[in-house]
Amino acid sequence: MRMIRDIREMQLASRAARMQGLSVGFVPTMGALHEGHLSLVRRARAQANLVVVSIFVNPLQFGPTEDLERYPRKLEADSALLEAEGVHIVFAPSPEQMYPAGATTTVHVGELSDKLDGRSRPGHFRGVSTVVAKLFHIVQPDYALFGQKDAAQVAVLRRMVRDLNMDVEMIVAPIVREADGLALSSRNAYLTLDQRRQALVLQRALKQVESLAASGERSPEKLRSAALAVLASEPAAALDYLEIIDPDTLDPVAATTPGALVAVAATFGTTRLIDNLLLPRC
Ligand code: PAF
Repeated sequence: MRMIRDIREMQLASRAARMQGLSVGFVPTMGALHEGHLSLVRRARAQANLVVVSIFVNPLQFGPTEDLERYPRKLEADSALLEAEGVHIVFAPSPEQMYPAGATTTVHVGELSDKLDGRSRPGHFRGVSTVVAKLFHIVQPDYALFGQKDAAQVAVLRRMVRDLNMDVEMIVAPIVREADGLALSSRNAYLTLDQRRQALVLQRALKQVESLAASGERSPEKLRSAALAVLASEPAAALDYLEIIDPDTLDPVAATTPGALVAVAATFGTTRLIDNLLLPRC
């Protein structure tokens, strides 16, 4: 496995691979890797000849009061995990390389960037779309893998790829969960034991929607109220949003729900967690 820290070196490595006819699969991450990331890596291995994983804690997607400083950084342990998964290249640039003084160009996916997490984290999606556009230009992947857990991020990036005619196929892999249902997240490491238990309310709320929808309930208002009642049963959960929306536009769905996205975000102590569920299409 090769570790590349220099942008130009990464571009040349990718170009060389493509000139040999190899396809490039890319998993962008901020490190602190867990099984969710590794499931993306495995999918990339199955899909492409050369697998590149980036590890970059992107300052542009953190708000001024957010956890940029304390975000877990574990380059050595992450590299060992990636090596064991057969990754070919780890790309780990410095913030100074990615954002040299005077860099002012950003990518803003209009409208979508202000919904869900974008509403409570102003500027977050501008940071995500800017760094992912830059990483795509550097790594030049044929395939890019993302986790369904960040459903709003998926919608924003799909739109960016479409609107800017980026020549990359986005592949979205299902959420990976702990045995008790908690969605894997690098931020779970912040939770105390109590908060870890309290956070399971997210999964209970989504399960409630899933079972009501399976028994024929089609009213988004009723499904939403039922989920809110479950969330209210856990006073430690400070709800940010619970919405039943179209996964592409992130707008609330009207009368019918099949294929809709049920997305939830709540804070436990100082840790903000997100989770979601896609309702079956039929
Ligand atoms: O999902 C993440 O970890 C990040 O938002 C991403 C896509 C790596 C961009 O920094």
